[in-house]
Amino acid sequence: MKKVITYGTYDLLHHGHIRLLERAKALGDYLVVGVTSDDFDRARGKINVRQSFMERVEALRATGIADEIIAEEYEGQKIDDIRDRGIDIFAIGSDWQGKFDYLRPYCEVVYLERTAGVSSTELRSARGQVTIGVVGQGSVTDKFIAECGCVDGAEAKAPTPGQPFEKFADGVDALYIYSHPRDHYRQARHALEHGKHVLLELPFTLREEETRELFRLADDSGLVLMAGCKTAYATAYRRLVLLALGGMIGEVVSVDAVCTSLRPVDYSDAASMEREWSSLADWGPIAMLPAFQILGTGYRGKRIVTRRVCGYDEFARVSLVYPSACASAMAAKGVKSEGELVVSGTKGYIYVPAPWWKTDYFEVRFENPQENRRYFFQLDGEGIRYQILAFLRAIGNPRHAADSAGVSRDVCLALSRVMQDFTEGTDTTDITPAK
Ligand code: CTP
Repeated sequence: MKKVITYGTYDLLHHGHIRLLERAKALGDYLVVGVTSDDFDRARGKINVRQSFMERVEALRATGIADEIIAEEYEGQKIDDIRDRGIDIFAIGSDWQGKFDYLRPYCEVVYLERTAGVSSTELRSARGQVTIGVVGQGSVTDKFIAECGCVDGAEAKAPTPGQPFEKFADGVDALYIYSHPRDHYRQARHALEHGKHVLLELPFTLREEETRELFRLADDSGLVLMAGCKTAYATAYRRLVLLALGGMIGEVVSVDAVCTSLRPVDYSDAASMEREWSSLADWGPIAMLPAFQILGTGYRGKRIVTRRVCGYDEFARVSLVYPSACASAMAAKGVKSEGELVVSGTKGYIYVPAPWWKTDYFEVRFENPQENRRYFFQLDGEGIRYQILAFLRAIGNPRHAADSAGVSRDVCLALSRVMQDFTEGTDTTDITPAK
């Protein structure tokens, strides 16, 4: 039996793919098709793929052409597959001419003419460009605008100087809101009431009921309302959460995260202080995210400690107590500390070095250091790029928007609750030094 193998991403399966597969199959008796895994595509910089691995595999399976479908997960896997499966022919489109000649010692290599006039890239852009209006100012919005340039189908638009928010919102399909948190609710609400999808940076809103209302509004209008938070979309972070939930370090007993950035603040300038986000609003949601995503939102008790300068919260620590675990989240813009994340369990711990919120690396450590493991992942655009991609996927498929969201609704609500309690002084202890 002559065995043929071919590989591809097969995003938005089109007739160019099908013709290639049919001709590859005709070269032998048995066709193996390697479909790139989501991680492998990310690792090789192909981040624009619109369909998940399972969706791509299902579409391929439905053609009935492949005798076997496998995942392509790592660089160099083709040689392993060819040797392990006794492959006779490796076939691929002519756009790869010469690129796979290195496989000739292992099997015959055939380049098949690529079908002209169709590609996944074209299909993705034909699905239409989403113009995302970017609200707010600073390095985060600058990065967001730059990252939109790396995502097929996303076009960023910034308001013209002095343009009122309402007018600006009218001219876009969706909004990324990174304004001062006190404006989030009003702006997101206006956007949703006017048919715009919203990517709302954390903290979502400063009141739990407002967040609930925004979700209600989005559902009623069939619009996407997703939390913005680049860390929540970074592969390394997502993986460590899954490892913790999967029991790799035993029962999780403590989640401790620190986020600080020391910046000179001019407390005497009222106008600039108006624009400043409090430490808890700025860093708090990221610092609390691992606790809520690993231990859940059903904590039994909480204490917020704040230290203020001229009324401005320069340091905050949130301590959460769960029935059988606890967590702490330090958020500070006037105090410096080591920005690491430690998830402690009954069998070991996960350690993420500073700055953990934009990490591509973490370690799982045990009593016996020989059991320690290190994990590395690709991180493009600090996670912002993946966040934009997730937002576009959700817009393309609003019924499954929750699958694309990096932060679940209950976590958004829990974060808003903490912000509300902080604003109202509930469960809050002030450690501001007496004058
Ligand atoms: N292919 C083809 N004719 C096309 C498009 C793709 O023969 N018009 C072949 C490729 O050469 C490859 C296989 O189909 O052997 C899978 O290609 P893939 O990269 O998944 O599809 P593209 O449409 O090229 O995707 P993209 O635009 O994202 O590069």
